[in-house]
Amino acid sequence: MGYQRDSGLPIEFGYTLARSSWGRGLATEAATACLRYAFEKLRLPELFASVDSRNTASQRVLEKIGFIYQREEQLAGGIDFWYVARSA
Ligand SMILES: CC(C)(COP(=O)(O)OP(=O)(O)OC[C@H]1O[C@@H](n2cnc3c(N)ncnc32)[C@H](O)[C@@H]1OP(=O)(O)O)[C@@H](O)C(=O)NCCC(=O)NCCS
Repeated sequence: MGYQRDSGLPIEFGYTLARSSWGRGLATEAATACLRYAFEKLRLPELFASVDSRNTASQRVLEKIGFIYQREEQLAGGIDFWYVARSA
């Protein structure tokens, strides 16, 4: 997870797991902990995430942890979906 606290720029949330660890709920578990840290400890107001429109597993992870679909973006290599999560 990377961010620039005082820059005023959007802060992007992302993850990559080794293939041997897929399909066991680990991304959801780790992303939930990171999101909680971002909101509760870092006091960030919102986080953004982009995901390839074909990456259903990652979209599912984002939705399971509370990200909400916002819009799509046409890129040279395909379509990305943008999501946002806001602090309660
Ligand atoms: C995306 C990624 C992080 C998922 O990790 P993971 O530990 O397997 O994810 P989880 O097990 O926590 O959850 C995956 C969810 O997607 C679902 N899913 C997996 N493959 C799917 C598919 N092909 N179609 C629909 N749903 C799918 C799973 O059933 C699960 O949902 P559920 O709990 O409702 O059953 C992992 O595949 C990865 O690192 N991929 C390469 C990098 C990447 O794509 N990063 C994200 C860039 S935006």
